[in-house]
Amino acid sequence: MIPQDFIQQVLDRTDIVALVERYVPLKKAGANYQARCPFHNEKSPSFSVSPTKQFYHCFGCGAHGTAITFLMEHAGYSFIDAIKELASQVGMQVPDDGKRVAPEEESRRDKLYACMDVAARHYRQALKTHESAIAYLKQRGLTGESAARFALGVANDEWQPLAGVFADYQDPLLVETGLVISNEGKRYDRFRDRVMFPIRNERGQVIAFGGRIMNKGEPKYLNSPETPLFHKGRELYGLYEHRRAIQGEDRVLVVEGYMDVVMLDQHGVDNAVATLGTAITSDQAARLLRLANEVVFAFDGDNAGRKAAWRALENSLPQARDGKLLSFLFLPDGEDPDSFVRAQGADAFKKLCNQAMPLSDFLFSELTAQTDLASQEGKVRLATLAQPYIAKLTQAPLLTRALRQRLDLLTGLGPPRQTSDRSHGTGKPRQYSNSAQGQGRGTVQASSWRIILQALLDDLTRANRLTDLPEAQGQEAEAVQALVSLLREHPEMSASDIVEHFSGRPEQALLASARAESMNWDDNYDIEADFQGALGAVMAVASRAAVKEFSGRKPSELSDLEKANLLASLKPRKPS
Ligand code: UTP
Ligand code: MN
Repeated sequence: MIPQDFIQQVLDRTDIVALVERYVPLKKAGANYQARCPFHNEKSPSFSVSPTKQFYHCFGCGAHGTAITFLMEHAGYSFIDAIKELASQVGMQVPDDGKRVAPEEESRRDKLYACMDVAARHYRQALKTHESAIAYLKQRGLTGESAARFALGVANDEWQPLAGVFADYQDPLLVETGLVISNEGKRYDRFRDRVMFPIRNERGQVIAFGGRIMNKGEPKYLNSPETPLFHKGRELYGLYEHRRAIQGEDRVLVVEGYMDVVMLDQHGVDNAVATLGTAITSDQAARLLRLANEVVFAFDGDNAGRKAAWRALENSLPQARDGKLLSFLFLPDGEDPDSFVRAQGADAFKKLCNQAMPLSDFLFSELTAQTDLASQEGKVRLATLAQPYIAKLTQAPLLTRALRQRLDLLTGLGPPRQTSDRSHGTGKPRQYSNSAQGQGRGTVQASSWRIILQALLDDLTRANRLTDLPEAQGQEAEAVQALVSLLREHPEMSASDIVEHFSGRPEQALLASARAESMNWDDNYDIEADFQGALGAVMAVASRAAVKEFSGRKPSELSDLEKANLLASLKPRKPS
């Protein structure tokens, strides 16, 4: 815990105007400073920073806070990191932090930044006249604008491309930045004969590089080592360039490669970031979730991609929060976002993102694939496998509940029920009321529609018997109606096609859970009987509603069809 009075001291010494200015151009307006709000889209400035009160406020969207919240909300810092950043700027040490930052330490960091900056400028300059590197990038479809936007460069094919760039090539700082390797008294550049991708921090300072080999050779990508400036489990490639777009779209896309980020950007998909050759860490996931409510992880469709996706799932579970959406997108086999967007364009890619599989679906689909739900042991195994993952959702109580419910449905191992609503091998329908009298009509309606939905998914040809369904409201009823009209258009679709068709839409969860429930049906369960009963029940409710509506009108006002319907609804219905 950082003491409150320490935080206050840091805030007292911080100039919020200078801080905000680093990210947003401010204009003086009376006693305050103004800008177009960085937290929402607007044409005229309603964002205001007060140098005397040391806070910011947006009169448009209500964003409001201190230097600490600004770093958190705008730049994606964690609370602790925001305080550390501010403290180091004003020359204070965060107490009990272990790593004490002395002033000479600070100026050393500045020198490291300066080295990285000099190297980045050099690589970038070198690209301008490097014909084979330009040809390589062109052949990959990259434009000059993209190369400039991401400040790409090249390291020449020599042992010491940086030798003439620094006054003292022997300076130990160069080894510390990871730019130079010192081996048995000999020094040479780490990056040689490679296209250089600078990795920038939130403030745009270059903190590391990724270098791609242009011809054959190993490794394909060489990255800077861990240095005082660079921790690869924390940084994300493209975050500096794309932070605004991510906040604007409220969605961030996580891809695997540098080229994926650059090429997506070139095609107008400007909310992507890449991890740096590792699975996404919990820290990175937390950072992204502070910037946007939705994180989509994109992976190759092959085995390696699914494995990587699973690691991403494991690491992001602890950061999931109710109301945030984490989802997984699998590209067709052999494709990565770079090749896909070049071949199919941005719209096709965005469509894929919209259809990404929600975390809960990915979790259950992977775990059920490892179990045999037809046996009791298999169900128990699923429950055992799922438990530790659900337990990791420490910050999402509602999602935890939803997953537990789904697990109960799949396994039938939920808490024991007071009243059973399932048949137990008697060959009889489940118990439910065929009449709405004396009961909450809503419940009967909902459960009847749910049975119809399950019966329909169980045997899609039942759609033919659902041609004149009454209008009804509620998720289940609407889902049945959507299914019936979909099947009228596409009678060839299978139940899985249908669930897929609705993927990413609100109906999907309902369809998936309705299907999941049917896995628990006893062999003797008579779904057809339930289906007919449920159909009768919803028809009865509809005709009672019709009677009510017609009863206020004179018979002469009714059309022939309405009279016929009314008569039919007044006939006693035989239980089927
Ligand atoms: P990939 O091997 O999928 O390459 O590595 P890519 O991104 O499609 O690259 P191109 O299109 O061939 O240029 C994905 C990411 O894994 C890391 C890099 O961050 C790379 O972008 N990686 C890969 C390494 O760090 N080292 C390697 O040798 C290979
Ligand atoms: Mn690629």
